[in-house]
Amino acid sequence: MSGSFISFEGIDGAGKSTHIAALSAAFQAQGRVVTLTREPGGTALAEQLRTLVLNDAMDAMTEALLVFAARRDHIVRVIAPALARDEVVLCDRFTDATFAYQGGGRGFDWDMLAILERWVQGQGAAPVLQPELTIWFDLPPAVAAARLVSARVPDKFEAQPRAFFEQVAAAYARRCDADRARFARINAHQTPEQVWADVLAAVRQRNLLP
Ligand code: TYD
Repeated sequence: MSGSFISFEGIDGAGKSTHIAALSAAFQAQGRVVTLTREPGGTALAEQLRTLVLNDAMDAMTEALLVFAARRDHIVRVIAPALARDEVVLCDRFTDATFAYQGGGRGFDWDMLAILERWVQGQGAAPVLQPELTIWFDLPPAVAAARLVSARVPDKFEAQPRAFFEQVAAAYARRCDADRARFARINAHQTPEQVWADVLAAVRQRNLLP
Protein backbone atom coordinates (compact mmCIF):
# COMPACT_ATOMS: atom_id res chain seq x y z
CA MET A 1 0.00 0.00 0.00
CA SER A 2 1.40 3.35 -0.97
CA GLY A 3 -1.17 6.09 -0.23
CA SER A 4 -1.37 8.25 2.87
CA PHE A 5 -3.63 7.37 5.77
CA ILE A 6 -4.46 10.11 8.30
CA SER A 7 -6.95 9.85 11.16
CA PHE A 8 -8.52 12.58 13.29
CA GLU A 9 -9.42 12.15 16.93
CA GLY A 10 -10.72 14.05 19.92
CA ILE A 11 -13.63 14.19 22.32
CA ASP A 12 -17.03 15.30 21.04
CA GLY A 13 -16.95 19.08 20.53
CA ALA A 14 -13.21 19.26 19.86
CA GLY A 15 -13.85 20.75 16.38
CA LYS A 16 -12.38 18.22 13.93
CA SER A 17 -14.83 18.65 11.06
CA THR A 18 -13.82 21.98 9.54
CA HIS A 19 -10.14 21.04 9.60
CA ILE A 20 -10.74 17.68 7.94
CA ALA A 21 -12.57 19.42 5.09
CA ALA A 22 -9.81 22.03 4.77
CA LEU A 23 -7.10 19.37 4.71
CA SER A 24 -8.98 17.47 2.04
CA ALA A 25 -9.00 20.62 -0.11
CA ALA A 26 -5.29 21.15 0.52
CA PHE A 27 -4.45 17.63 -0.72
CA GLN A 28 -6.72 18.00 -3.74
CA ALA A 29 -4.97 21.27 -4.61
CA GLN A 30 -1.79 19.17 -4.86
CA GLY A 31 -3.49 16.87 -7.36
CA ARG A 32 -4.05 14.03 -4.86
CA VAL A 33 -7.21 11.95 -4.89
CA VAL A 34 -8.79 12.08 -1.42
CA THR A 35 -11.05 9.50 0.19
CA LEU A 36 -12.88 11.33 2.95
CA THR A 37 -14.48 8.91 5.36
CA ARG A 38 -15.44 8.30 8.97
CA GLU A 39 -15.81 5.72 11.71
CA PRO A 40 -17.93 4.06 12.73
CA GLY A 41 -19.08 4.12 9.10
CA GLY A 42 -17.68 4.57 5.62
CA THR A 43 -19.55 1.64 4.02
CA ALA A 44 -23.25 0.81 3.81
CA LEU A 45 -22.87 -1.96 6.39
CA ALA A 46 -20.67 0.09 8.72
CA GLU A 47 -23.10 3.03 8.57
CA GLN A 48 -25.88 0.68 9.74
CA LEU A 49 -23.67 -0.44 12.61
CA ARG A 50 -22.97 3.23 13.41
CA THR A 51 -26.69 3.92 13.79
CA LEU A 52 -26.95 1.06 16.28
CA VAL A 53 -23.84 2.05 18.24
CA LEU A 54 -24.80 5.73 18.48
CA ASN A 55 -28.43 5.15 19.45
CA ASP A 56 -29.01 1.81 21.15
CA ALA A 57 -28.11 0.86 24.70
CA MET A 58 -25.74 -2.14 24.84
CA ASP A 59 -22.98 -3.47 27.02
CA ALA A 60 -19.42 -2.30 26.44
CA MET A 61 -18.22 -5.52 24.82
CA THR A 62 -21.09 -5.52 22.32
CA GLU A 63 -20.23 -1.91 21.51
CA ALA A 64 -16.54 -2.75 21.03
CA LEU A 65 -17.34 -5.72 18.77
CA LEU A 66 -19.72 -3.65 16.65
CA VAL A 67 -17.23 -0.81 16.10
CA PHE A 68 -14.52 -3.33 15.19
CA ALA A 69 -16.92 -5.15 12.83
CA ALA A 70 -17.68 -1.82 11.17
CA ARG A 71 -13.93 -1.10 10.99
CA ARG A 72 -13.16 -4.44 9.35
CA ASP A 73 -15.73 -3.83 6.61
CA HIS A 74 -14.43 -0.27 6.17
CA ILE A 75 -10.80 -1.40 5.86
CA VAL A 76 -11.52 -4.22 3.43
CA ARG A 77 -13.88 -2.33 1.15
CA VAL A 78 -12.67 1.27 1.32
CA ILE A 79 -9.42 2.06 3.14
CA ALA A 80 -7.09 -0.66 1.86
CA PRO A 81 -8.24 -0.34 -1.78
CA ALA A 82 -7.88 3.48 -1.65
CA LEU A 83 -4.35 3.21 -0.23
CA ALA A 84 -3.49 0.65 -2.92
CA ARG A 85 -4.58 3.26 -5.49
CA ASP A 86 -2.14 5.72 -3.88
CA GLU A 87 -4.94 7.93 -2.57
CA VAL A 88 -5.04 10.05 0.56
CA VAL A 89 -7.43 8.56 3.12
CA LEU A 90 -8.71 11.07 5.67
CA CYS A 91 -10.65 9.23 8.36
CA ASP A 92 -12.75 11.05 10.96
CA ARG A 93 -11.90 8.77 13.93
CA PHE A 94 -10.28 5.33 13.83
CA THR A 95 -9.16 2.78 16.44
CA ASP A 96 -7.88 5.32 18.97
CA ALA A 97 -11.55 6.30 19.41
CA THR A 98 -12.34 2.73 20.42
CA PHE A 99 -9.61 2.78 23.06
CA ALA A 100 -10.81 6.21 24.18
CA TYR A 101 -14.58 5.63 24.24
CA GLN A 102 -15.01 1.90 24.85
CA GLY A 103 -11.73 1.50 26.78
CA GLY A 104 -11.59 4.81 28.68
CA GLY A 105 -15.19 6.00 28.72
CA ARG A 106 -16.94 2.65 29.15
CA GLY A 107 -14.12 0.92 30.99
CA PHE A 108 -13.83 -2.04 28.60
CA ASP A 109 -10.70 -4.19 28.86
CA TRP A 110 -7.72 -2.45 27.21
CA ASP A 111 -5.84 -5.69 26.42
CA MET A 112 -8.91 -7.17 24.74
CA LEU A 113 -9.13 -4.07 22.54
CA ALA A 114 -5.46 -4.52 21.65
CA ILE A 115 -6.15 -8.11 20.57
CA LEU A 116 -9.13 -7.04 18.46
CA GLU A 117 -6.99 -4.28 16.93
CA ARG A 118 -4.39 -6.81 15.81
CA TRP A 119 -6.99 -9.15 14.33
CA VAL A 120 -9.14 -6.55 12.62
CA GLN A 121 -6.28 -4.44 11.27
CA GLY A 122 -4.10 -7.42 10.45
CA GLN A 123 -3.40 -7.99 6.77
CA GLY A 124 -1.91 -11.45 6.60
CA ALA A 125 1.87 -11.22 6.71
CA ALA A 126 1.82 -7.41 6.44
CA PRO A 127 2.03 -5.27 9.59
CA VAL A 128 -1.13 -4.18 11.41
CA LEU A 129 -2.71 -1.32 9.48
CA GLN A 130 -2.40 2.01 11.30
CA PRO A 131 -2.69 5.62 10.16
CA GLU A 132 0.73 7.11 9.45
CA LEU A 133 -0.46 10.26 11.18
CA THR A 134 -3.17 10.74 13.81
CA ILE A 135 -4.16 14.31 14.52
CA TRP A 136 -5.55 14.54 18.03
CA PHE A 137 -7.60 17.66 18.75
CA ASP A 138 -6.95 17.94 22.46
CA LEU A 139 -9.53 20.02 24.30
CA PRO A 140 -10.41 20.12 28.02
CA PRO A 141 -13.74 18.29 28.52
CA ALA A 142 -15.23 21.36 30.26
CA VAL A 143 -14.58 23.49 27.17
CA ALA A 144 -15.96 20.81 24.84
CA ALA A 145 -19.10 20.51 26.98
CA ALA A 146 -19.70 24.26 26.76
CA ARG A 147 -19.34 24.10 22.97
CA LEU A 148 -21.78 21.19 22.70
CA VAL A 149 -24.53 22.90 24.71
CA SER A 150 -25.51 25.03 21.73
CA ALA A 151 -25.12 22.17 19.23
CA ARG A 152 -27.75 19.76 17.92
CA VAL A 153 -29.58 17.04 19.80
CA PRO A 154 -26.89 14.91 21.48
CA ASP A 155 -26.36 11.26 20.50
CA LYS A 156 -25.70 8.51 23.04
CA PHE A 157 -22.08 9.51 23.62
CA GLU A 158 -22.57 13.28 23.49
CA ALA A 159 -25.17 12.92 26.25
CA GLN A 160 -22.62 11.36 28.63
CA PRO A 161 -21.57 13.26 31.78
CA ARG A 162 -18.32 15.18 32.16
CA ALA A 163 -16.62 12.30 34.01
CA PHE A 164 -17.07 10.08 30.94
CA PHE A 165 -15.20 12.57 28.76
CA GLU A 166 -12.46 12.98 31.35
CA GLN A 167 -11.86 9.24 30.97
CA VAL A 168 -12.04 9.43 27.19
CA ALA A 169 -9.47 12.25 27.18
CA ALA A 170 -7.18 10.33 29.52
CA ALA A 171 -7.36 7.28 27.24
CA TYR A 172 -6.43 9.41 24.21
CA ALA A 173 -3.42 10.66 26.18
CA ARG A 174 -2.44 7.06 26.93
CA ARG A 175 -2.62 6.09 23.25
CA CYS A 176 -0.64 9.21 22.32
CA ASP A 177 2.08 8.44 24.86
CA ALA A 178 2.35 4.89 23.53
CA ASP A 179 2.87 6.01 19.92
CA ARG A 180 4.45 9.47 19.82
CA ALA A 181 5.69 9.02 16.28
CA ARG A 182 2.18 8.55 14.91
CA PHE A 183 0.38 11.15 17.01
CA ALA A 184 0.30 14.91 16.55
CA ARG A 185 -1.29 16.36 19.68
CA ILE A 186 -2.86 19.67 18.81
CA ASN A 187 -4.13 22.21 21.31
CA ALA A 188 -7.74 22.65 20.19
CA HIS A 189 -8.34 25.41 22.73
CA GLN A 190 -7.18 28.12 20.32
CA THR A 191 -8.77 30.11 17.50
CA PRO A 192 -9.73 28.02 14.44
CA GLU A 193 -6.93 29.80 12.52
CA GLN A 194 -4.31 28.78 15.07
CA VAL A 195 -5.59 25.20 15.15
CA TRP A 196 -5.47 25.04 11.36
CA ALA A 197 -1.88 26.34 11.37
CA ASP A 198 -0.94 23.54 13.77
CA VAL A 199 -2.74 20.92 11.64
CA LEU A 200 -0.88 22.06 8.51
CA ALA A 201 2.44 22.08 10.38
CA ALA A 202 1.91 18.49 11.56
CA VAL A 203 1.12 17.31 8.04
CA ARG A 204 4.06 19.18 6.52
CA GLN A 205 6.45 17.95 9.18
CA ARG A 206 5.80 14.43 7.89
CA ASN A 207 6.29 15.56 4.30
CA LEU A 208 2.71 14.69 3.41
CA LEU A 209 2.14 18.17 1.97
CA PRO A 210 4.71 20.62 0.59
P1 TYD B 1 -18.52 11.84 15.74
O1 TYD B 1 -17.28 11.33 15.11
O2 TYD B 1 -18.37 12.89 16.78
O3 TYD B 1 -19.46 12.26 14.58
P2 TYD B 1 -20.50 13.47 14.57
O4 TYD B 1 -19.63 14.68 14.41
O5 TYD B 1 -21.35 13.16 13.41
O6 TYD B 1 -21.22 13.40 15.90
O7 TYD B 1 -19.41 10.68 16.39
C1 TYD B 1 -19.01 9.40 16.52
C2 TYD B 1 -19.24 8.96 17.93
O8 TYD B 1 -18.90 7.57 18.03
C3 TYD B 1 -18.38 9.70 18.94
O9 TYD B 1 -19.15 10.05 20.06
C4 TYD B 1 -17.34 8.68 19.34
C5 TYD B 1 -18.03 7.36 19.10
N1 TYD B 1 -17.10 6.27 18.75
C6 TYD B 1 -16.90 5.22 19.63
O10 TYD B 1 -17.50 5.21 20.72
N2 TYD B 1 -16.05 4.21 19.30
C7 TYD B 1 -15.37 4.18 18.12
O11 TYD B 1 -14.59 3.25 17.85
C8 TYD B 1 -15.56 5.28 17.21
C9 TYD B 1 -14.85 5.29 15.89
C10 TYD B 1 -16.44 6.30 17.56
